[in-house]
Amino acid sequence: MTAEAPTAPIWPADLSSYCFEVPYSEDSVLFERAEGTTLFDRAGRGYLDALSGVFVTCFGYDCEPIRAAITEQLGRMAFNPPLHGTNPNALALADALTELAPPGLVSAKLVNGGSEAVEAALRLARYYHRATGDAGRYKVLSYYHGYHGSTFGSLSVTGRPDVTRFGPGLAGTVHVWSPDAVQDFLGVPADQAGRLAADLVERTIEAEGPDSIAALIVEPVIHLRGMAIAPDGYLARLRQICDRHGILLVFDEIVTGFGRTGSPFAAQTFGVTPDLMCVGKGISGGYAPLAAVLIGEQISAVLGDGSGPVSFAPSHTYAANPLATAAGLAAVRLFTEGDYPKRIAALAERFEPALREAVGARGTVRAIGLLYGVKLADPGDGSGATVGERVARACLHRGVILRGQDDWLVLAPAFVTTEQDTETVRRTLTEALDEIYGAR
Ligand SMILES: Cc1ncc(COP(=O)(O)O)c(C=O)c1O
Repeated sequence: MTAEAPTAPIWPADLSSYCFEVPYSEDSVLFERAEGTTLFDRAGRGYLDALSGVFVTCFGYDCEPIRAAITEQLGRMAFNPPLHGTNPNALALADALTELAPPGLVSAKLVNGGSEAVEAALRLARYYHRATGDAGRYKVLSYYHGYHGSTFGSLSVTGRPDVTRFGPGLAGTVHVWSPDAVQDFLGVPADQAGRLAADLVERTIEAEGPDSIAALIVEPVIHLRGMAIAPDGYLARLRQICDRHGILLVFDEIVTGFGRTGSPFAAQTFGVTPDLMCVGKGISGGYAPLAAVLIGEQISAVLGDGSGPVSFAPSHTYAANPLATAAGLAAVRLFTEGDYPKRIAALAERFEPALREAVGARGTVRAIGLLYGVKLADPGDGSGATVGERVARACLHRGVILRGQDDWLVLAPAFVTTEQDTETVRRTLTEALDEIYGAR
């Protein structure tokens, strides 16, 4: 493939009223169809997707069991009145998700997307403390540079300054530094940075007043820091700190969940169970908007009087709708019955060395399961702060999709990535890096 811009620019030929997800650029592609791990634009040019959409299409773009489940459900009932009951898929999906999750997470609130899941977790945290006589707890701790979504609550706990530019957010949002930020500031090894960052979290809690804090929400692997992986023992320390101060620990597993880190959830990979766990993205394989909050036992216990199922309102009109839950149920069954953790481990064994070979000394690879970050070295031409964007663009021009921002890249290949796909990513990324850093 050659280093050309996408062959089918949308602008200005197709000027329309559509408001883009991100600022429009001349690289915006009009995707028309997809097969396996490859998307095609209207000129028929292929783009190998090494990001799974955006951590979503983990079974590829033509997953027959999920398609069949939605189609079958579409013929039976596309929607059910949500104020008067639910549908069988929703019940089965909640069971399947809690079975897949670590023990202790016993109920699931189904929603339409990751931001809604985070929003529900924040409300659940406040609700729980009120219900247990601790109404003074309303603050939420989260990372600077974390990302939790685009609704007002989830945006408030998001700590990336260029994302949170909409004025004051939710009252009581307090940001803390993540281990990799501490590592950057102080130049200390990861395990030491983990200990220091955990100490800083506890100092912040003490300074804010533990009795005012409802929850701490963290991503086990921080997406917008270029997949910064929690150092050994760090999440366990957070668990202890939260327990010591009566604070709920919330994991945002919207990226890390559903097999990405090798286990069903990062909670299992790291051996730490949160009180609330937000999951989304891959759980419908990209076939329908779907996400969930998995709820710990002690919180579930205040959501009902024990005589029937638990409930937590208000909800969303389309939450747990039969089509989305059909997709989710098929995806979870496929994941479980298809022995995906084993397949992911086998794929990672092939993909990680290929990625390391492409990157070489031009960056540091972070790898966990089939989730990768590359912290890029400064190319020395004054573009160090945006080198991630440049590399990602050079890959797109060569027909490979990954994400690049600041000085990092992230990749999340589908669980059905072939040997040939892996080789294409290796070759393309090598060429893109050669273009920017000069050939090795
Ligand atoms: C870690 C994390 N949390 C939450 C969200 C929000 O999810 P959604 O875009 O589905 O609302 C995202 C989206 O990228 C995310 O990466």
